[in-house]
Amino acid sequence: MQENFTIEFSHVTKTFGTHTVLDGLDFKIHEGKITTLLGFSGAGKSTILKHILGIYHPTDGHVKVLGHELVNMKEKEIRQFRTNFGMSFQYSALFDSMTNFENVAFPLREFTKLNEEEIRDKVLSLMEQVGLEEHAFYKLPSEISGGMRKRVGLARALALEPKIMLYDEPTTGLDPITTHMVDNLIMSTHKRNAHIPMTSVIISHDIAATLRISDYVAFLEKGRVVEHSSVEEFKKSKNPIIQRFLELSR
Ligand SMILES: Nc1ncnc2c1ncn2[C@@H]1O[C@H](COP(=O)(O)OP(=O)(O)OP(=O)(O)O)[C@@H](O)[C@H]1O
Ligand SMILES: [Mg+2]
Repeated sequence: MQENFTIEFSHVTKTFGTHTVLDGLDFKIHEGKITTLLGFSGAGKSTILKHILGIYHPTDGHVKVLGHELVNMKEKEIRQFRTNFGMSFQYSALFDSMTNFENVAFPLREFTKLNEEEIRDKVLSLMEQVGLEEHAFYKLPSEISGGMRKRVGLARALALEPKIMLYDEPTTGLDPITTHMVDNLIMSTHKRNAHIPMTSVIISHDIAATLRISDYVAFLEKGRVVEHSSVEEFKKSKNPIIQRFLELSR
């Protein structure tokens, strides 16, 4: 079977002053799969996400996303190109003064020509997709629980039917039950959008969840991906640091 890659890093080096964060990184992310990126704090995981989004450009090497090199794009093109991405942050980053409904409607108003009725239908269907209860629709984000805010953030991220979902520590700081709920939501969202096909990239410190919900795992160390394999292969890794990571999660 031919493998397709949505995102390709080729020999990417990123330096800030004299500090080399990515060091000749080669990394290809499989289309339509869930890939989780693991690594110590400061290893460069968020830096990788910022390259995917075109917020950072490589000092050396190339990053291709959906066949495009973002470095060649003008700011306006990049803005349009980013509609291919859905971002989910550690804190849901909702607009505090807008209702949950308006938060989800926001990208539709900004980037589509849908009329009010179409927007309403779309928002309601997104809310249903992420399991948001009706009583929450017209409240403010501050009036609902953290778990519910996660659902609103995810609905907003999904509004433009992104080809790539990026999650930067989606469950850090949540209680175990909400964490489990969010992990399941990531998985069900991924499956529901298999027709796009959706590629999901997660940054996580939660090994147990990573092994449960991912197709592929990549481990980042000293600016390079030192292991990139299916979950089954990853569990059998001979790399001592990865073994230690796995032991600590048992
Ligand atoms: N704009 C910047 N200017 C200078 N240094 C930066 C910049 N962005 C990132 N770095 C440095 O790059 C390194 C990697 O940061 P990054 O945020 O990618 O780590 P991370 O793997 O996401 O860590 P964490 O798990 O703590 O979130 C850090 O040492 C950070 O200080
Ligand atoms: Mg980070």
